[in-house]
Amino acid sequence: ASDMLVDSFGRFHNYLRISLTERCNLRCQYCMPTEGVELTPTTQLLTCDEIIRLSKLFVTSGVDKIRLTGGEPTIRKDIEEICLRLSNLKGLKTLSMTTNGVVLAKKLPKLKEFGLSMINISLDTLVPAKFEFMTRRKGHEKVMESINAAVELGYNPVKINCVVMRGINDDEICDFVELTREKPINVRFIEFMPFDGNVWNVKKLVPYVEILDKVKQQFDGVKKLQDLPTATAKNYHINGHLGSISFITSMTEHFCSGCNRLRLLADGNLKVCLFGPSEVSLRDSLRAGVDDLGLKEIIGSAIKKKKAAHAGMFDLAKTANRPMIHIGG
Ligand code: GTP
Ligand code: 5AD
Ligand code: SF4
Repeated sequence: ASDMLVDSFGRFHNYLRISLTERCNLRCQYCMPTEGVELTPTTQLLTCDEIIRLSKLFVTSGVDKIRLTGGEPTIRKDIEEICLRLSNLKGLKTLSMTTNGVVLAKKLPKLKEFGLSMINISLDTLVPAKFEFMTRRKGHEKVMESINAAVELGYNPVKINCVVMRGINDDEICDFVELTREKPINVRFIEFMPFDGNVWNVKKLVPYVEILDKVKQQFDGVKKLQDLPTATAKNYHINGHLGSISFITSMTEHFCSGCNRLRLLADGNLKVCLFGPSEVSLRDSLRAGVDDLGLKEIIGSAIKKKKAAHAGMFDLAKTANRPMIHIGG
C-alpha cells in the first residue's frame, strides 16, 4: 500500500469505480435529463489497454476492489476482455459491476468465468408499466431474468439497488422486502440524490428512517447488522429471510467519514468525490507519455484535495456536477 491513496483526512482509498461508457440502454429519470446528455467522442474515451494500465497502477498502490459502472457497463463491446484482464491483476480481491440488468442474463456466465465476483443490479419497481415510466424504455422482464440468472449462477448476495422516490415507487417497499424472503438477495433502498439534469427535489426524497419504519410495521424481527466502516449501506436482517435489506443514506446521514472510493470516468478523468467538482484528466497525461511515477504524483495530489464530506443535499442541488450517467454512481 502506498501514500498515494491516502487523503488529508487519513482515509485510504482501496475501492476504484471505473465507468466504462457514457451510454445506456435505459433513460432513467433520476439519472439523466429527457433530452439526453452530450457524449464524449469515442477517441477521447479510455481504451481497454488504457483502463488496464491505469488499473494496474491503482492496484499496485493498494486498490483491492474495482467496480465497473457506466452508463451501462454491459453494452461496452470489450466488456469480457476488460473483465478478464482486470481480474488477473495481482492484488485485486473483488471485481464487481453495477448494471441495469437489461442485457445481463446472457452475458453473465462468461463474465463470471472471466472473474466478475460480485453483481449489483438496479431495479426500482416491480410493476412493468412503472418501469417503463421511470426508465423511459421497456425491459422489466429482462431485468427480472438477469436477477434470477445471477442467483442461479451462485452470486451471493445478489444486490438490488432501488432508488426510492416519493409518489412513484414508495408504495412498493414491502414488495421489495418480500424478494429477500426465499432468495439470497440484498435489497438496498437508496435515497434520491441530486445530479445535473435529474430535477431533484427534497419532496421526492424519502428519508431512510421513513422506509425503515414502513418495513418494521409490516415485518417482525427486523435486526440491525454490523457494518464495515467503509460501507455505503446500513444493513438489516429480517427474521426468517434468506436475504437481507439495506439503506443507502447519502442524503440524511452521509457516510463520507469512511469513504474509500475513487472514480475513473469513461473519459479518463479521475473524480475523487461523487459530488466534488474537482477532476483531473489521467487520459491526457497517459497520452502525453507521462510515466508511472508521474501518474502516481498526479493521482496522489488529486486525492489530497478531497474534501471531508459532501456539502449537504440543499447545497448539492444548487452546485454544478456532472449528470449521474457520466459518473456511474
Ligand atoms: P457495494 O460495493 O456492493 O457495497 O456497492 P456500492 O454501494 O459501493 O456501489 P453501487 O454502485 O451499488 O451504488 C449504490 C448506491 O450507492 C448508488 O446510489 C451510488 O450512487 C451510491 N454510492 C456509491 N458510492 C458512493 C459514495 O462514495 N458516496 C455516495 N454519497 N454515494 C455512493
Ligand atoms: N440518486 C440515488 N441513486 C442513484 N442512482 C442513479 N442515480 C441516482 C440518484 N439520483 C443509482 C442507480 C444505480 C447506482 C449506480 O446509482 O440506481 O443502482
Ligand atoms: Fe465519499 Fe464524496 Fe461519497 Fe462522501 S459524497 S462518501 S466523500 S464520494
